[in-house]
Amino acid sequence: MKKAYNIVLLLILGAWVAMAATVNITGTVTKTGGGALKDVTLTLSGVSGLSAKTGADGKFVLTFTRVIHMDASKSASMKFTLNGRNLNFSSSAGKISGNVSVFSGIGRQLFSMDFADLKPSSKGITLPLFTPGLNILRIVANNSTYTCPIIQEGCNLYLKESGSTVNNSFRIANSMADAVSDTIIAKKAGYTDKKTPINSYTLSDIAITMDSAQAVACNYTTLKEAGSKCGTHEILMGMAVSPSGLNTSVSNEFNYVTPENEMKWQNTEGSEGGFTYSQGDAIVTWAQSNNIKVKGHCLVWHSQLAGWVSSATGRERVLGIMKKHIEALMGHWGNKVYAWDVVNEAIATDSDVGTGNAQMRKTVFYNQIGPDYIPLAFKIAREYADSHNMKDMKLYYNDYSIDADNDKSKYLRTVVKQWVDSGVPIDGIGFQMHIGPPNNIPTAESVKDNMAYYASLGLEVLISEWDINLCGSKVTAAQQLQLYHDITKVCVEQPMCTAITIWGMNDSQSWLNSWSTALCNGANSQSLLFNNGQKKATYTQVLNALNGK
Ligand code: XIL
Repeated sequence: MKKAYNIVLLLILGAWVAMAATVNITGTVTKTGGGALKDVTLTLSGVSGLSAKTGADGKFVLTFTRVIHMDASKSASMKFTLNGRNLNFSSSAGKISGNVSVFSGIGRQLFSMDFADLKPSSKGITLPLFTPGLNILRIVANNSTYTCPIIQEGCNLYLKESGSTVNNSFRIANSMADAVSDTIIAKKAGYTDKKTPINSYTLSDIAITMDSAQAVACNYTTLKEAGSKCGTHEILMGMAVSPSGLNTSVSNEFNYVTPENEMKWQNTEGSEGGFTYSQGDAIVTWAQSNNIKVKGHCLVWHSQLAGWVSSATGRERVLGIMKKHIEALMGHWGNKVYAWDVVNEAIATDSDVGTGNAQMRKTVFYNQIGPDYIPLAFKIAREYADSHNMKDMKLYYNDYSIDADNDKSKYLRTVVKQWVDSGVPIDGIGFQMHIGPPNNIPTAESVKDNMAYYASLGLEVLISEWDINLCGSKVTAAQQLQLYHDITKVCVEQPMCTAITIWGMNDSQSWLNSWSTALCNGANSQSLLFNNGQKKATYTQVLNALNGK
């Protein structure tokens, strides 16, 4: 039988033992039904520091060479003998305490056992089976350490020289030779972990097939529980809030909030350098005491801006204004805010539905600073966060009508790709998803496709301001229910979809009711999940999809 290991004994010098061992495993990971699986992480159980990732062709190479230095052996005042698999001690000491451990040739600990008050004449310690080939036995007895290489080759355990101390080599053998019992673990989000037992550390062309994780149906009764506990990844469930709406109906269902208006420029720096935070503070304080995360919204936006900013001129001047604003708000709330919408709605088209003439919106920031204002805003925010103890702060770009297949969504894809390729420090894309008049009505398929695109760039995706407007009869009630369900399901099935925020609690409070282009003309948009504090059928659709139903 071919030796299933590749181990070189480098040196055994009375005092210490050093060995080099090599793992060399190659293979391909495919998904059930066929097709290579990219970005699967492969590790070997119990071997730290060893991992590989599959490329686009599903192939991986796990190689590992390392030299192990064992503790220095003390002079053998103690003798160790093997009787079968029993390790016995003989010593003048009355009682012996310590630990016996065995390491494989690649330094994986195979066995460790503490012992105490052992009498030298007693039965001793029963050793387990080791990996074939070279192992290292380490005995710590009465605070002295003894090491010894052990070769496991054949069948029964025996000592090379009866009565030898562990400073001399002895052999252990059994008929299980070549049965390296180890496991390759393959992991990928959205797939069930795959454990593949191996019997060798030198294997080529191993084939591993992974099943996509089946959504398991859950029965959680709140949105936040279903979002965090069901499915294969956590989804934060968010609500747009104002200080007047901070109550238990929000905290019972949601674990994420976005201030609807309170952190916008006109409300935080209405006059230059005159920062006002009290409205935002009220939300942040309440959120903290209810264990709710906050998304700061938003740092750079052309709307709800302050007049003094809109009329400022000159690149350096407007860049300075933008920097000061970003740093002031991030500095004020620090890590009490979990993430920020750094730039909001920077793409324009001829219509709100996202058709025609997609281009950068000609805001004061664009006009005065130039097209690089977005990369600069993200860099300013990232540098400020990293140098002010906010390394985990997430930075997002947020926009509407980018979830459908339209000119705007296509344009944003190319722009975001350029940002990512040029190292702009962006963590994710918020799809506002104000669905219906005046914005687009996407299909679940188009949302899935857009989310998958940004996920493939390594970005998070969020549904950041969700409502589905029934005004103007552009969306039917039945369609609304279907979209709430199916788009939630898309998020559940996209590992990078990290949050869903609903833009308002009760229908009567929806901003759409009074926003002229939403076609409501003061009527109720019926766009949300609650009405007069009661859960609507739309709520059940979202909950069901989160529960995998
Ligand atoms: C809306 C608020 O809901 C309204 O109360 C306010 O009058 C106008 O702004 N895109 C965004 C949000 O990023 O900030 C907007 O919120 C809705 C559209």
